[in-house]
Amino acid sequence: MTVSLIEEKFFETFGEEPDLIAAAPGRVNLIGEHIDYSEGFVLPFAINERTMTAVRIRDDSTVRVASVQRHNTIVTVDIKDVKPGLKGDWERYVLGVLWSMGITTGVDLMIDGHVPLGAGLSSSAALECSVATAMNHLFDLGFSLEQLARLTQRAENEYVGVPCGIMDQSVSLMATNGFALLLDCRDLSTRNIPFDVAAHGMELLIIDTQAQHALIDGGYAERRASCESVASILNVKSMRDVTMDQLDSYCHQLTNTEYLRARHAVTEMKRVLDCVDALSNADFIKVGLLINQSHISLRDDYSVSCPELDTAVEASLEAGALGSRMVGGGFGGSAIALINVSKTADTIQAIEKAFADKKFKAPRFFTSLPSQGAELLSRK
Ligand code: GLA
Repeated sequence: MTVSLIEEKFFETFGEEPDLIAAAPGRVNLIGEHIDYSEGFVLPFAINERTMTAVRIRDDSTVRVASVQRHNTIVTVDIKDVKPGLKGDWERYVLGVLWSMGITTGVDLMIDGHVPLGAGLSSSAALECSVATAMNHLFDLGFSLEQLARLTQRAENEYVGVPCGIMDQSVSLMATNGFALLLDCRDLSTRNIPFDVAAHGMELLIIDTQAQHALIDGGYAERRASCESVASILNVKSMRDVTMDQLDSYCHQLTNTEYLRARHAVTEMKRVLDCVDALSNADFIKVGLLINQSHISLRDDYSVSCPELDTAVEASLEAGALGSRMVGGGFGGSAIALINVSKTADTIQAIEKAFADKKFKAPRFFTSLPSQGAELLSRK
C-alpha cells in the first residue's frame, strides 16, 4: 500500500493533485463482543490493513467519489442532495460521513481500501474513519476523536442504515501502535493496554472463514433489541448497570432468550476486565481461557456463531491454541486464535484440513500486531 498509488489515481481521475491524504485501519477485537451497544468495556486493537482517502476541495457543490479498487467508476452527486434515503452502493459510507459532519462544500475523493471486505475486520469503519479524518483536517473542523467516533457511527446508523455500536469506529480512530484499546463504550474514555504477544513468543492468528450468513443484519438488530428490552424491564439505562444476581432475580419476568442474551452481556463485560488484569500479569493462559469462554457464550447464549466459526475455533484449540473465538458481529467473518509462534504452520494446516473435511470454502489467514489508529499521511 503506497501513498503514491492513490496520488497517481487521484490525478488520473480528477486531473488535479489531492490537498491531503488520510488513513484509518480495520480492527480485531481481543475480547468484549456484542457489548458496545450495552455501554460495556471492549478491548479491540487496530490491524495493519488500512483504508486511505485522498481529497481535494472544489469551488462548487459537486462531490465526486472514486476508488482504486472499483476501476475508477466515479459517483457524482450534489452535496445538497446528500441526505439519508439517497440510493447508492459502497459510496454511501463516504457520503454518510460528509452528511453527518455537516459538509456543505464540494470535494473530490479517492479511496484506496486494503481492509479485507466481508471478513468481519471492519472495512466499513476504516472507510468511514479515513473519510472523517480527511474532512476534519481539510476543513479544520477541530472535531475530537470521540466526536468523530460518534459522527461516523451516526453515518452508519442513520445514513447507511446499519445499527452498529461504537466500538469499530472508536478503535479505528483512537488506537495506538503496540497497544490494545480498553474502551469504555459509555463515555468513550480509553486506556492503552500493552499487548506485546511477540515478546512472549506468541501471535494472534486471524482466520477469515470466508463465510457470510444471511442472518447478519436482522440477527444483529434482534440481539441489540433483546438487551434493550432486558434493560428496560430491569429499569436500568443499559446492561452495563446489571449484575448476575440482579439478572437472576428477574429471570421469571424475562423470556428464556432474553435471559440468555443478557447473561452473555453481563458475563462478557466481566471477562473484558479480567482479561485486562491477566494481560497486566502477562498471564496468557488466563487470557486464552477468557477468550474461550467468550466464544462459548457467544455461541450458546448469544447464538451469533456459525459452523465455520466453530470449526475454526475447535481446530485451533486442537492444534494447541491457548484461546480461540469468533470476532465481530458473527454469523460468518473472522475468528482469532492466540497461539505459540512455533505452532503457526501446524494450526493453519489443522484449520485448512478441518474446513476441507466439512467442504467449507478455504479460509484465509492473517496476523497483525496492534497498529496505529487514523492519521493524516500527507498534506500539500
Ligand atoms: C459489529 C458492530 C460493532 C460491535 C460488534 C460486536 O462489528 O459494528 O459495533 O457491536 O459487531 O461486538
